[in-house]
Amino acid sequence: MAAAPHASWWSDAVFYQVYLRSFADSDTDGIGDLEGLRRRLGYLEQLGVDALWLTPFYRSPMADHGYDVADPRDVDPMFGTLRDFDELLADAHRRGIRVTVDVVPNHTSNQHAWFKSAMAAAPGSRERARYLFRDGRGPDGAEPPNNWVSVFGGPAWTRVPDGQWYLHLFTPQQPDLNWDDAEVRYDLERTLRFWLDRGVDGFRFDVAHGMAKAPGLPDMDPRAAQEYRTSEQGKAYDPRFDDDGVHDVHRMIRKVLDEYPGTMSVGEIWVSDEERLARYLRPDELHLAFNFRLMLTHFDADALRTAIERSLAVPRAAGTDATWTLSNHDVSRTVSRYGGGAAGLRRARAMALVELALPGAVYLYNGEELGLPDADLPASALTDPRARTLGPEYGRDPERVPMPWDGDLPPFGFSRNPRTWLPTPPEWAGLTAERQLADPESTLALYRQAIELRRTHPALHAGDELEWYGAPAGCFAFRRGRGGLICALNTSASSIALPPGEVLLSSSPLVQGRLPPDAAAWLV
Ligand code: NOJ
Repeated sequence: MAAAPHASWWSDAVFYQVYLRSFADSDTDGIGDLEGLRRRLGYLEQLGVDALWLTPFYRSPMADHGYDVADPRDVDPMFGTLRDFDELLADAHRRGIRVTVDVVPNHTSNQHAWFKSAMAAAPGSRERARYLFRDGRGPDGAEPPNNWVSVFGGPAWTRVPDGQWYLHLFTPQQPDLNWDDAEVRYDLERTLRFWLDRGVDGFRFDVAHGMAKAPGLPDMDPRAAQEYRTSEQGKAYDPRFDDDGVHDVHRMIRKVLDEYPGTMSVGEIWVSDEERLARYLRPDELHLAFNFRLMLTHFDADALRTAIERSLAVPRAAGTDATWTLSNHDVSRTVSRYGGGAAGLRRARAMALVELALPGAVYLYNGEELGLPDADLPASALTDPRARTLGPEYGRDPERVPMPWDGDLPPFGFSRNPRTWLPTPPEWAGLTAERQLADPESTLALYRQAIELRRTHPALHAGDELEWYGAPAGCFAFRRGRGGLICALNTSASSIALPPGEVLLSSSPLVQGRLPPDAAAWLV
């Protein structure tokens, strides 16, 4: 049976994604860590978030900044110790903040003990069976086993000295696991229990539409290579992702979570077909699934309305809750995506109000609440493997720059070490948390007020159905439930009259009672 809406703490929670490398550095190596985060929990408590999502902090050679895991049941010394983790968890719980952690089941690091032994073993061995080793094509096996490409560019296969090839949908340092292997499944169960027994409140599953691959590993439609992370994704045949076999893995995961009441899961699922996406939310699979449609939509009221309506169809079909996000560590920040500069910031603020007015869970990305743009980084500073393989414009460093906390000079309290893993732009002096806490008009103040209202105002709990109003071209307005909150958005070039009601909050000051361009308002 489908869960009743809002039955659980995560149903309408505000989650805050902590990109740990960039949050706060306590040990002066220029890289954020668990203790740095613990010391900043007061800020998150004031912001009003319900739960955290921590990006991977497990043992890793960091070829993909921690998404290449060498030991999923230990903390990398770069981020601290298991004791630091336990203290962070206890402190967060004392403050009423839940903690969820990333899990990376699709692949391991090439420095994982399993992969090292697979490399040392012979073709056909037990050691190789945990990964996807295959013979090549062509008379001497010199061609990759199929035409799959890596999400990070180039072939998804790397050849090893004895002539076999192994599959990696991401970097060559991230070999894909064989999910038909019983030990691979059992090991994930061990990892989940390891963190659940320590007290975590849930997991974010990386590449949750990966893991299972189409039987026989048939060739992909090369056009699918262009589709990953676009709204077109899912049109061309792509046997790398969203294979039906993946649902077995999710059922296995859910069985474990069901033994720990009150814990939850959210999947990173780049599947744009609503019907396919809803399958991951069946009652014995994931609790939540990221829907990236809103994030992939440009700042246009009609397109945004369509994105919202299509996104809402997914949880409705599945009997679960919607999951909204506008940014994360893999995509350009909202301020920059919506055009950059003052207009980009106005639009990002407007979209924050739209997102926080919607029914369901909301995921914020650290720095979004400060209105940070992508940083303009010199080529020499880039560290992301995607920038190396696909070209600098595909790199994700600009949206991963350390948080500016306080002071007037980089790295703005992020670290006592001036050499941080990515440089912080000097022009962020006006964007620090310290400055914004003192400014009632700041983006941080807007987020704090919106989150507070979302938590406490009855109009935001009036119902989950959206009723759309007639609105001028380039604008929309919806009401949440009977007598509920009205959210109006203006993406047009002219100011508009607002629907009748009392204005609770607006993303830009009203002009003679009218909503200016690039703005949103909440009314009751
Ligand atoms: C998605 C993660 O968010 C991204 O940062 C990572 O590179 C890939 N999965 C591979 O693990």
